[in-house]
Amino acid sequence: MTMFISPVQLQSESLVASIQAKIQSMIDDLVASLPKPEKLTGEERRGIIAKYTAVLEGNFIYWMTAAYLSIQSEEARPILLDNLYEEVRDAHPAMLRRFAIAARAFPTDSDALAVHEDLTNVRLFLGRLSGVQSVVTMAFFEGFIQRFMAHLAELAAAQGSVEMEYTNVHGVCDIAHTQGLFTALAAEMAMNPLDPGTDMFEGVYLIRTLIENIVFNPVDSRAA
Ligand SMILES: [Fe+2]
Repeated sequence: MTMFISPVQLQSESLVASIQAKIQSMIDDLVASLPKPEKLTGEERRGIIAKYTAVLEGNFIYWMTAAYLSIQSEEARPILLDNLYEEVRDAHPAMLRRFAIAARAFPTDSDALAVHEDLTNVRLFLGRLSGVQSVVTMAFFEGFIQRFMAHLAELAAAQGSVEMEYTNVHGVCDIAHTQGLFTALAAEMAMNPLDPGTDMFEGVYLIRTLIENIVFNPVDSRAA
């Protein structure tokens, strides 16, 4: 049986390849600029783990759900659902909380407030439920998380922790999830294209600003 691929689908697949390359290079730049754990103070390492936890624990499933609600393509739905299913079934937020507690980096009110504004911007953006933009945002986020895991594990180890289930699981499962999100993006772009003049990467830039806040702005919990 020959599978029919429509010209619209072909066009969106080659566009997705160029989007994927751009996302990849943004992630590479971000990862290359991460401060070396041994160059940071204990408080700075704690702050990065704490702010990462303050953002991810309560928001990853929420944001993936927002992306799911925003899409119209039937083909993209099972890809996002599969991701959500794994998050819920394997209780990833509980895994992350264990990781943070073991590293003595459970977020304080200062950590949560340090990311408040950038976090709110991402929430409001995803609340607009724009299918293509939401999926591309989550593809960037998931792709970054996967590459960040080795660094996060090093930070926790430097804090004396040996609890690495969260970083072990996410360094592996997110590779497949990231690829799946680009497949979903191709389907969504063919079915529900962005209006001309809309910035495809608007949400990606907001998530990048949030990540930069987590990794580059030290928080001193004692100063609050
Ligand atoms: Fe997860």
